Amino acid sequence: MNAPLQSVDSRRAGALLEVRNLQKFYGAARTWFSRRQYPVQAVDDVSFDVARGETLSLVGESGCGKTTTAKSVLRLIEPTAGSVRLDGEEVTGLGREEMRQRRRDLQIIFQDPYASLNPRMTAGDIVAEPMRNFSLDGLTSEKARSERVKWLFSKVGLRAEAMKKYPYEFSGGQRQRLGIARALALSPKLIVCDEPVSALDVSVQAQVINLLMDLQAEFGVAYLFVAHDLAVVRHISHRVAVMYLGKIVEIADRDTLFSSPRHPYTEILLSAVPAPTPGKRAERRVMSGDPPSPANPPTGCRFHPRCPLAAPVCRQVSPSLTPRSDAVGAKTAHFVACHVR
Ligand SMILES: Nc1ncnc2c1ncn2[C@@H]1O[C@H](COP(=O)(O)OP(=O)(O)OP(=O)(O)O)[C@@H](O)[C@H]1O
Ligand SMILES: [Mg+2]
Repeated sequence: MNAPLQSVDSRRAGALLEVRNLQKFYGAARTWFSRRQYPVQAVDDVSFDVARGETLSLVGESGCGKTTTAKSVLRLIEPTAGSVRLDGEEVTGLGREEMRQRRRDLQIIFQDPYASLNPRMTAGDIVAEPMRNFSLDGLTSEKARSERVKWLFSKVGLRAEAMKKYPYEFSGGQRQRLGIARALALSPKLIVCDEPVSALDVSVQAQVINLLMDLQAEFGVAYLFVAHDLAVVRHISHRVAVMYLGKIVEIADRDTLFSSPRHPYTEILLSAVPAPTPGKRAERRVMSGDPPSPANPPTGCRFHPRCPLAAPVCRQVSPSLTPRSDAVGAKTAHFVACHVR
C-alpha cells in the first residue's frame, strides 16, 4: 500500500470516489526485433479521491494514462490491480449485473459524442434509453420519461423540438449537449469526462464547459475530468492531478497547482500555458528528451531522464506521493512525488 495516501483517506473522509493503488498493464506487444515481451505499464499505483460535487482533473502528456485511469474507474476496462470505491462501496470485483446497477451513479462523456450516440435513434430516445433500462421510481411510464427528457433538454440548452432529430442533424456542440443530457438522465453522482471539449471549436468549448459547471452547481454532480488543455482545466477544476508515464506526480487544489507547482514536470507543463496577466508569463521551458516507453519505464523516478533537477537517488528510488506543508490558505493538501522538491 502507498502509505502516504492513508492521510488522503482520513482527511477526505467520506470522499465520493476513492481510487487506491490502481494499476493497468496492457498485454505485452510482440516486436519484430525481440521475442521478449513487456507489458505496457499504462497506469501504475495511482491513488486519488474525488469529493462530492468536486471536479478533479487529470492532466499530462499524450499516452500518460489518463484515459486508462478514467476507463478503469468505470470498469470499461478491467484494471490489473487496485481498488475503486464509489460511495464507500467497492466497484472492482462486482459482477456484471451489480456493476450495471452501479453505472447509474457513474456515467461518462466522451470526446466524440457522435461515436457513442446511436445514429438510428432520435435524440429523445437516446436520452430516454437509460431511464428505460433502469425503470426508476416515478419514471415507469412513457409519459413521465418523456417529461423528464424534455426537462433534461432544457437543462442542457437544447430545444424540445430537437427530441425528434437524429444525431447527424446536430452540430458538434449540440451533440455534446445531448451526450451530457444522456449522462444526466439517471442523476449520477460522478461523471467521467474524457476530453469532452477537445473536438469542439473554441467558442463552443467555452459554452460546454460553462454548461458542465452550471449543472454541477445545480445538481452537485462530481466530475473526473480528463483534458490536456490546461486553460480549460484551470477554468473548471477544483483540484488537479498531474500524471507522468502512468503515475501521479502531483495533486493540489487548482490555485496552488497553477501558482506554486512543486514537481519539475508540472513546472515544465505549466510553463507552456499563457499567464492570465499578459507580460507575466513565465519563460517557456522545453522538456528535454523523448517520453520513455511505458513498456520499459525508467527505474526510480520515471521522470528522471528528462528532469533538470535529477539527483542520484532519483535513478534508484521511485518517489511516493507525500504531503507538503507549503500550501498557505490552500483548501486541500498538496501532494508531490519528488525526492528533490
Ligand atoms: N488497448 C491497449 N493496448 C495496449 N496499450 C494501450 C492500450 N490502450 C492504451 N495503451 C497504451 O497505454 C498508455 C496510456 O494510454 P492512454 O490512452 O491511457 O493515455 P492518455 O493519457 O489518455 O493519452 P491521450 O492524451 O493521447 O488521450 C499509452 O502508452 C498507450 O499506448
Ligand atoms: Mg486519452
